[in-house]
Amino acid sequence: MSEASFPHRDLVGIAPLSAKDIELVLDRAEKWAAFNRGQRRRGDRLAGITQINAFFEPSTRTMISFELAGKRLGADVVALQATGSSMAKGESLIDTVRTLDAMGPDILVVRHGRTGAADEIAGAVNAAVVNAGDGTGEHPTQALLDALAIRRHFGRIAGLTVAICGDIAHSRVARSNLLALGKLGVKLRAVGPQALLPEDGDDIALFTDMDEGIAGADVVMMLRIQRERMDDALAGKLEDYRARYGLSRERLRRVAPDAVVMHPGPMNRGVEIESAVADDAERSLILKQVELGVAVRMACLDLLAGGG
Ligand code: NCD
Repeated sequence: MSEASFPHRDLVGIAPLSAKDIELVLDRAEKWAAFNRGQRRRGDRLAGITQINAFFEPSTRTMISFELAGKRLGADVVALQATGSSMAKGESLIDTVRTLDAMGPDILVVRHGRTGAADEIAGAVNAAVVNAGDGTGEHPTQALLDALAIRRHFGRIAGLTVAICGDIAHSRVARSNLLALGKLGVKLRAVGPQALLPEDGDDIALFTDMDEGIAGADVVMMLRIQRERMDDALAGKLEDYRARYGLSRERLRRVAPDAVVMHPGPMNRGVEIESAVADDAERSLILKQVELGVAVRMACLDLLAGGG
C-alpha cells in the first residue's frame, strides 16, 4: 500500500507504540473500513498466513471481529475452544500456547484473565502475538478502534476532551485508551468513585463527581463495572453507583453540544448507561465502534504479517 512501516513484531499494548505508529494503523484501517462496506469482502493480502485465536476469557465482539478480520484478508483462521482444550486437563498456559505455536501459525491472537499473560506468551512463541485483552492490563485494538471512531466523527483527535467514566481501575480498555489518546494529544479526564480511579493521575484530570467530570466533554466513554475483577467489599460499596455515575439523558445536558457517547461493550443497560442514551442515534457511537473494530483489526493483522 504505502512505504510507511510498523516497527513492531507483536501488538501486546499501546505503551510501546508511537503516535506515528498509531496513526499508521488508523490510516490503514480507513481503507479497510471502505473495503468492508463493499459487496464482496474477501481479499487475499493474508493468503497463506495462519492465524490462531486463543480466547481464555469470554468474548463476543472482539473474538468475532478478529475472526472476520483475518478471513476478509484471506488468512486461514482457526480458533481454540478454550473450555474444551487440554487446559481442562491441567496443561499450563505456556505449554498450551507453545503447542499451538509448534503448528506454525504466523499470528496468535490471545485473551486471558491474567494481567501480563499476553507479554509472557509473546516471549514464549515464534508467532506474532496480538493481545485481545489481558486481565486489567491492556486491550490495544479496542483503544485503536476507539481512536478511529473519534477521529472519524470529529475529523481530528488532538485537543478534544475525553471523559472516561466508571470502573477505570479494572479496565484494560481504559488503560489502553488513556495511553493511546494521551499520545494523540487528547485532554484526558477520568471520572468515577475514588476506589475505581487510576492511581497515577499524571496528565489525567480525576473527578469523583460525574456531573463535573463530563461537563463540556466532547466524548463520554462509559465502562462496565467489572465485578469479576473486584472483591466483595469493594463491590458492596457500589450500591448507589447508578444514581451517582449512570449516564442518563438528564446528565448528558452537561456535555459539549456535539458530544458523543462511547462504550466498548458489553453494556449493562440501566447501570452505567440508560437505554435512551445507548440507543440515541445522534450521540451514540457504540455500534460504529464495533463496525470499525473489524477494519482496525484487519489493519493490525496486515501490518504484523509484513504488509508494512
Ligand atoms: C471489554 C473487555 O473485554 O475488556 N470488552 C471488549 O473487549 N469490547 C470490556 C468489558 O469487559 O467490560
